[in-house]
Amino acid sequence: MTDFGDVIFSAKNEVLKSNSIESLEKIKVKYFGKNGLINNEMKKLSSLDAEGKQTIGKQLNLFKREFSELILERKDFLRKKEIENKIKAEFSDPTMPTRQNILNLGRVHPITQTIEEIVAILGSMGLRYVEGPDVEDDFHNFTALNIPENHPAREMHDTFYIGSKEDKKNVLRTHTSPVQIRSLKDSNLPIKIFAPGRTYRCDSDITHTPMFHQVEGLIVDKDLSFSNLKWFITQFCHIFFNKKDLKLRFRPSFFPFTEPSAEVDINCFRKNNKIYLGEGDDWMEILGCGMVHPNVFKACNLENKETSGFAFGVGIERLCMLKYGMPDLRDFFDNDLRWLNHYGFSFFNYPDLNWE
Ligand code: DAH
Repeated sequence: MTDFGDVIFSAKNEVLKSNSIESLEKIKVKYFGKNGLINNEMKKLSSLDAEGKQTIGKQLNLFKREFSELILERKDFLRKKEIENKIKAEFSDPTMPTRQNILNLGRVHPITQTIEEIVAILGSMGLRYVEGPDVEDDFHNFTALNIPENHPAREMHDTFYIGSKEDKKNVLRTHTSPVQIRSLKDSNLPIKIFAPGRTYRCDSDITHTPMFHQVEGLIVDKDLSFSNLKWFITQFCHIFFNKKDLKLRFRPSFFPFTEPSAEVDINCFRKNNKIYLGEGDDWMEILGCGMVHPNVFKACNLENKETSGFAFGVGIERLCMLKYGMPDLRDFFDNDLRWLNHYGFSFFNYPDLNWE
C-alpha cells in the first residue's frame, strides 16, 4: 500500500478538474466501481495483519466518505454552472430599443391609416364592423336599394359588369350601400353597423379612379329622426378632423335609397390650390346621407315593423386627402415609394384622436 496516498490525491484532483456531470460519473466508477481502484485496495485488506487492517481500513473508509462528499459538491457546482450558462445564452433584454432602420423600413398606406381611424371612431360610437363582398349581385347593389332596372341612377354608377353585359347579374359593387341590405336581412334590430371597403366604377380621370374606398354606416331602430343623423355625422366629423369648431352644412340631395337625403359639406377656405378646413366660408362636400327609404325596408321584409333608420356613405380617399393635405387622388394607387415614404404612417402610429 505504498502508493495509496497517491491514489487518494489523484482521485481528488480528477474530481476537482472534471467539467461535466458525465465525467464525474466516470471518475466515480473508476475509483468505486466493482473493479475500481479503491475496491481493489479493499480486497487486499484480507491479506493484512490486524493492525494493518485497522489503519488502512480506517483510511479507506475516511477517504470513501470524503470522496463521496467531494463528488456531491462538484456535482452541485457543475449543475449550477450549467443553469447559469443556459440563462446567459437565452437571455434577451425586452427593454432594449429596436434598431432604428427597422422602424423606417415600411410605411402604412394613408388609406389603411384612415380606415383605422374610422374604425376607431365608429367602433367607439357603438357601431359594429361588418364586411360585404366586392362582387355583388344586381339585387343587393341596385334593386333592393330602390334602384330598379332602367332607373337613371344605374347609369350614373358606371358599373363594371361581371360576365356578359346582357345578363347583368353580377357586378363589382359600385358603392358600399349593398352591405346595408345584407345587414338588414341578416340582423335583428337594433342594427348599428359600418362597412368600409373597396368600390369600383368604370371611370378614370383627375378626380376618379376605377377602384376607390367607401365606408357605409347604418343605424336602424325605433323612433330615429333626422336630428339623430345630424348629431351622429357632426360628432364623427369633429372627431375625425380633430376640429371642434368645424361647421357642417346639410344640403338637400337625392339618393334612391334614402328619403329625405342630404349631402354634407364642411366649411373651408381655399388659397393657392390649398384647402384649409374649419376656416372661411367656402364649402366642401364630404358625404351623402339620409333616412332609410321605406322601399329599402320593404325589400328586406321589414316594412311591417316600426322601424326607422339613417344611413351614410363616405369616400375614404376624399376624407384622407382633406385631412392630410394630399393634392392628387391618383397618387394613392401609383405605388411610388417616395410618395409613400412622405405621406405614409409609421406602424406604431395608432390613430391619435381627440375625443373631447
Ligand atoms: N352610395 C352612395 C354613393 O356611392 C353614397 C351614399 C349616400 C350612401 C347616401 C348612403 C346614403 O348610405 O344614405 O354615392
